[in-house]
Parts: sequence; C-alpha cells; structure tokens
Amino acid sequence: MNVTEIAPDVYRISMFVKEFNLQFNHFLIKDDEPMLYHAGMRQMFPAVREAVSKIISPSKIKWIGFSHFEVDECGALNEWLELAPNAQAVCSEAGAIVNMGDYAIRPAYAMASNDVLNTGKHNYRFIRTPHLPHGWDAGVLFEETEGTLLCSDLLHQNGDVSPITDKDILSVHKASMLEYEHGPLMEYTPYTHQTAGLLTSLADLKPKTLATMHGSSFFGNCSKVLTDLNLVMKEIWAGEDKEGDAHTIPDQVHAAR
Ligand SMILES: [Fe+2]
Ligand SMILES: [Fe+2]
Repeated sequence: MNVTEIAPDVYRISMFVKEFNLQFNHFLIKDDEPMLYHAGMRQMFPAVREAVSKIISPSKIKWIGFSHFEVDECGALNEWLELAPNAQAVCSEAGAIVNMGDYAIRPAYAMASNDVLNTGKHNYRFIRTPHLPHGWDAGVLFEETEGTLLCSDLLHQNGDVSPITDKDILSVHKASMLEYEHGPLMEYTPYTHQTAGLLTSLADLKPKTLATMHGSSFFGNCSKVLTDLNLVMKEIWAGEDKEGDAHTIPDQVHAAR
C-alpha cells in the first residue's frame, strides 16, 4: 500500500495490482466525521483497513462514499459498516434506491445533485453524473474549500504511476482506454448526449486537484483536463456503428425472429 496526502486531509491509499497493471486508489478524508471514498474490493479490505489504521482508527469512519455500484467502488462496504458502527454509505439517490436498500446492511445516506455533506472542516458537494463514468447511479463529490474533485474512474490510467502529478495524464488515459478497446474491457464509458455538458459542469467547478481512482491524481489546470477529456471520450466512444461490429445484431438473432 502506498499512502500519499494528495490534498489537505485527503490521503490516497493505493494498491497496485500487477495482474491488471492497475492501481486501485481509496481516499481517506481525515476530519471530524472521517470519510472513506471507495470502500474497495472485499479481497483488498484487510490491506486497506491496515493502511487506514495508520492514519485514524477505522472504527471512527462516519461516511463511506463512492460514485457507482461496482466492486472496486463499494464491494467491501459491509465489511466497513461492520467495523465502524456509526458509518453510513453515502451515494446518489438512484444508488440508494436501486442498490443500497438490498446490498448495504444499513440504510445509505442519499444525496441529490448539489446537496452538501459537511464532514467538519470540509464541505463535499454531490454532483449527479448518470452514466459518467458509467452506471445509472453515478455521481462525484467535490470538496469546496480546497477544490478536490473525487472523480472516480474519470481519467483512469493504467500502470504503476506516481501518486500525484501535474504532467499530462490525459494522454496516458487515452492510451489506456485505447488498450482496453482491444479486449474484454472495451467501451468503458458510454458517450451520451449528456457527457459534454456534465464534463463542462465539472470543469466549471475549477478543481485544484483531481483525485482519480486508477492512476495518478492531478494538480494544475484541472478545468482544461476535464474539458479536453470530452474530446478524447468523443473520439473513442461516440463513433458510428460499423457494419459487422459488436453493436450489430448477429445473423442468428435475425434468423430466429
Ligand atoms: Fe467503475
Ligand atoms: Fe474503478
């Protein structure tokens, strides 16, 4: 586990998984009501708990946040809820309705777009981002004083990269996504009629730090990175269907109708 304070009170707890050539980052916010953003996978739980315990007592965690329902985001949620008796999952209203009611051992705290969660010194604004990076229930949290955007899978970069950088992460992201396009992890993010607008609204927040779930966090001109991300996503995923590609209905389905 690699632990780095990437912004005031925001600790990036990172595990590099060689088989996936990928870092899985969990963010611990040290505050009066501590928050863990990304519960992580169940298999990683003992290692993340150990890393958290070097910063705060894990039983003191109050909030467990995540963007969307997926194992790296919230697989170990119930392990954390058992360990921290006052902890509560925090997610979108859709996430609370569709997933948490059945999955979590305690009810989740559902946030509507623009709701603010105060953790003590820090205010986290929730922004609903359906299908960005993916999932109906997706959203992000933005810390308003220090300008840290907890942006989940956006700007995912493969490799064992540095914890935080001001270098070009968009090119690394693009190369990673193009690599995925040749295998089972293709079509990471749907490009919808809302994608450009959502990315513009995130850019308008003028973040100072982008806390990414996979790869380096970024500091510098975050608004430009988010605006340019739209162009990269559009180029990779907004293309027209080609004859014979995976989107077309196979011949045998036509024959069966
Ligand atoms: Fe994801
Ligand atoms: Fe992820």
